Amino acid sequence: MAVLRPERGVAPASPTAWAERVIETDRRAGLLRRPREREGGSGHRCSVDGRPVVVFSSNDYLGLAAHPEVRDAAARAALELGVGSTGSRHLSGGHRGIGELEEELASFLGSATATLAPSGYAANVAVLEALGGPDATILSDAHNHASLIDGCRAARSRVEVYRHLDAAHLEGRLRGVAGRAVIVTDAVFSTDGTAPDLRALDRLARSHGAWLVVDEAHALGTTGPGGRGLAAAQGVGGDHVVRVVTLSKALGSAGGAICGTATLRQLLLQRGRALIFSTALPHPSVAAATAALRLLSARPELVERLGDVARRLRAGLGDAAAPAASPRSPIVAVPTGDAERTMRLDAALWQRGYLVQGLRPPTVPAGSCRLRLVASAVHTDAEVDGVAAAVTDLL
Ligand SMILES: Cc1ncc(COP(=O)(O)O)c(C=O)c1O
Repeated sequence: MAVLRPERGVAPASPTAWAERVIETDRRAGLLRRPREREGGSGHRCSVDGRPVVVFSSNDYLGLAAHPEVRDAAARAALELGVGSTGSRHLSGGHRGIGELEEELASFLGSATATLAPSGYAANVAVLEALGGPDATILSDAHNHASLIDGCRAARSRVEVYRHLDAAHLEGRLRGVAGRAVIVTDAVFSTDGTAPDLRALDRLARSHGAWLVVDEAHALGTTGPGGRGLAAAQGVGGDHVVRVVTLSKALGSAGGAICGTATLRQLLLQRGRALIFSTALPHPSVAAATAALRLLSARPELVERLGDVARRLRAGLGDAAAPAASPRSPIVAVPTGDAERTMRLDAALWQRGYLVQGLRPPTVPAGSCRLRLVASAVHTDAEVDGVAAAVTDLL
């Protein structure tokens, strides 16, 4: 999606004048972003811009960001070990907690290895830097997350974008690829909760000797057996399959991990610049993610509850909700058309006590603005019914 820019060829009076013109162009197009101020912590009830709200925009699918055991683990890690990790593992050594979390994640996901990165964003960039290169072609779903798009750029590969969820289009694109191929897709698309037919993508990957990279950011903890993600749900695996997970969403912490073979891990540690040249996760984040993973593993009913909340939310929104991969997908999109109307609805919902994010370009393609509602296992039925009624009423 092209970002609007002021006219080319007109020299600005100063660097700051240029920046002001860019901002003004976005403002005139109704695309100016203004992050709101939040008080009261990470729970699903807090205060935003001074108003108490129930949060329906966070990625804290299981309510673990503020869970007492997760907080406690983070606090103890800070007291026992310190805060910062002091450098990347190449520089300062890999802290034991990082190694332990990698082993637990790999075991939970049934993967030979997991390699932590400072964020989910960095994990996606690192994996494409490692697998890509000038001799490769990356085939990327048209709706992939910005971190995968940036990873494609950092990989210095040829990039072919195939139509959203369209395996037949991907197949056509693959036929034109002469050398190595890397197929990359989100598992659950973050703006509408749709999901690819991974088996079809896997068949294509196998027949073309390609890597298949699956970003499970919104699938870990929400999808598949016990929240093990879409590849687990569809029985897709093998040495060529790479799963990226984030620790920042259902696990309520921060960080990312890349899961695959021991060889993949070796390659990442040599070629994944985004994880080699960036400070490793701080101890509290590692400890929090480990505690959250243990809770997810011990309490699969959290994932069940999330599915029930999501189904109730979707049912309450009725025809206003766009179709998703499953009625239990926690991401529910409500199409709203143009940016101005979308942000008016977003503001009106905030006034009624609900934090719901309106999405505009470049997050979504022009003309497809939407409200994005996200269910969490900790929402009560009354909260879900309340937001659904408010959205329906305002529409
Ligand atoms: C699909 C997807 N992948 C990756 C990321 C990046 O994850 P993180 O926020 O942990 O950097 C996000 C976050 O918004 C995402 O939605």
